[in-house]
Amino acid sequence: MGRYLITAALPYANGPIHIGHIAGAYLPADIYYRYRKMKGDDVIFICGTDEHGVPITIRAMQENTTPEKVIEKYHKIIKESFDKLGIIFDNFSGTHRDIHFKLSQEFFLNVLKNGYTVVKEQEQFYCENDKMFLPDRYIYGKCPKCGYENAKGDQCEKCGTTLDPTDLIDPKCAICNSTPVIKKTKHWYFVLSKFEKQLKEYLESKKDWKPNVRDFALSWIKEGLKDRPISRDLNWGIPLPIEEAEGKVLYVWFEAPIGYISSTIEWAQKIGQPDKWKEYWLNPETKLIHFIGKDNIPFHAIIWPATLMAQHGDWILPYNIPANEFMNLEGEKISTSRNWAIWVDEIVEKFPPDAIRYYLCLVMPETKDSNFYWKEFQEKVNEELANSFGNLVSRVLKFLNSKNNGVVPTPNENSFENIDLQVLKNIEEIVESIGNSLEKFEFREAIKYLREIAFLGNKYIDDVKIWKLTPGTTEFNNKLYVSVQVIFSMALAMYPFMPFSSVKILKMLGYDEDFIKQVRWDDIPKIKVKIGSKISPDIEPLFTKIPDEVIEKEIENLKRIGQKEKISIDSVEEAIDIDYFKKVDLRVALVKEAEKLPKSKKLLKLIVDIGSTTKQIIAGIGEHYKPEDIVGKYIIIVNNLKPATLMGETSYGMLLAAKDENGRLILLTVDGEITPGSKVS
Ligand code: MF3
Ligand code: ZN
Repeated sequence: MGRYLITAALPYANGPIHIGHIAGAYLPADIYYRYRKMKGDDVIFICGTDEHGVPITIRAMQENTTPEKVIEKYHKIIKESFDKLGIIFDNFSGTHRDIHFKLSQEFFLNVLKNGYTVVKEQEQFYCENDKMFLPDRYIYGKCPKCGYENAKGDQCEKCGTTLDPTDLIDPKCAICNSTPVIKKTKHWYFVLSKFEKQLKEYLESKKDWKPNVRDFALSWIKEGLKDRPISRDLNWGIPLPIEEAEGKVLYVWFEAPIGYISSTIEWAQKIGQPDKWKEYWLNPETKLIHFIGKDNIPFHAIIWPATLMAQHGDWILPYNIPANEFMNLEGEKISTSRNWAIWVDEIVEKFPPDAIRYYLCLVMPETKDSNFYWKEFQEKVNEELANSFGNLVSRVLKFLNSKNNGVVPTPNENSFENIDLQVLKNIEEIVESIGNSLEKFEFREAIKYLREIAFLGNKYIDDVKIWKLTPGTTEFNNKLYVSVQVIFSMALAMYPFMPFSSVKILKMLGYDEDFIKQVRWDDIPKIKVKIGSKISPDIEPLFTKIPDEVIEKEIENLKRIGQKEKISIDSVEEAIDIDYFKKVDLRVALVKEAEKLPKSKKLLKLIVDIGSTTKQIIAGIGEHYKPEDIVGKYIIIVNNLKPATLMGETSYGMLLAAKDENGRLILLTVDGEITPGSKVS
């Protein structure tokens, strides 16, 4: 028995998660965790949301709300997505909690005390209007390379060039659009080079790591480790606990991995054994395994181990980091800003969790980037899950009900034929192979072995022509018993991959929900299905086929996104840029209802008719129009904006208005009545 601490990358609480995240980190982590539990290991699975850094503040700005509200909202959405997919952690915390603040500050102070920091002065853009230093992503301007007017301080999204904010021509503050000034600021740097030797030895000893992870980390060291700033000028995050650093917070990548520890401490407190976390983090026998996507490799394989080493404590170091590559969608890179993604909170409402888990495991980006294809998803669900797994189970159970009154027959093992012994033996071998693959983090291979069981089971039934045998005979009893035993073993081996269906089969066989928790992986081939017990008379299909229309609808949806990207209201300039302008979907809308938003002078909440449907729009026209004056007007709206939240209300569009120099505002409307929803061209 071993002791394992399994973690999956803390997702940023700045938006929902998509299938690429699941296939990259959370699904393999969950499968591995369930497998380790079945192996009888002492194992915990720890995660939480990453709640600091610029990704959070940018989202707050976009949604016109506070960072607190943003993390609260997305922590909940993300947690629910995991729950629905059956990805269950022992603890799911967040990094904006007291425990985490305290521990991160302690970690920083140790790095400082042990002499691994230097303070350097540098020049950075500062907005005098907003009174703050601007993170790279808060600055936009003209790209020096392609001339795109709206390049961000770290990258031009048009030509892809990586930029430094000072490269931008005519840089502007993204909050207020004024021109920022350059100002000096001090930052604390982590002197990584002091760990070069130690890290090199550590990484070189990790001979069984995935080559991509180890080589990548070692190549970083070869290039020479540079000092990394671990402070930021930002008003959202964990303050540096020293006087000289007022107004500065810890760099999110310094403190986020510490969240693995603080979440474990929170878990220990919750279970009423507040010191129990030490048995994991301070015990050299513990195998610490971080499941992550490839973009996280340097942080987990270099900076994080160095942070732990710098404590001069008894902290364990990562035992393995089975990072995955990326998953693309229909041949194109997943992009959250373009909405080119399949969001977990949406897909779980449409398809069963095990179908999603099965397909994502089959195409997991283990050694190279992979793809999610809707057509292939349908094919795998219909041909493999419904036809092979599902059919096997319903064939056996229905037969059992109709021919043997639902009772699992008693076999006469002495008269087992070769074909019977062979199928049982094959299953034993397959279960062992699945285990071996999982030990090596080879999830794709593992699930292909699992698929073999269903295949073999169907073949066995066909070969013995079970429907031709006479009930009551030894042969009938033996063959039927073996068939039931096959689906029973299959259900047990399915548990790490498809827990819902595993339990469903077991329940139909008359086992209770918790039975699986006592099953040990190595015993699977030895555990015999209960003889003489009666199975459930109601046999439900394990999986239903996905009709063509359903998949075509999903593909249509994606096509629409591919053709006309949703416009994000990052800035007004972006909307006026002519390339963007062509993509603006202008429509006539008839105002059906209007009311003032409580606590706001400016905002009106409108419900408008756009023909096919109605939409809610939050408009800043309250100082110019009374609600009753605007109802019944035909106005012009931008129909394809990303939803934005204003004072807690979601707005699904914008209306057009003209404003004169004195600030008087008049709505754009049409010269006469026309069908709501008509396109404006
Ligand atoms: N939030 C990061 C991301 O989504 C991952 C942080 S992992 C941690 O890429 F270790 F830093 F917590
Ligand atoms: Zn500004």
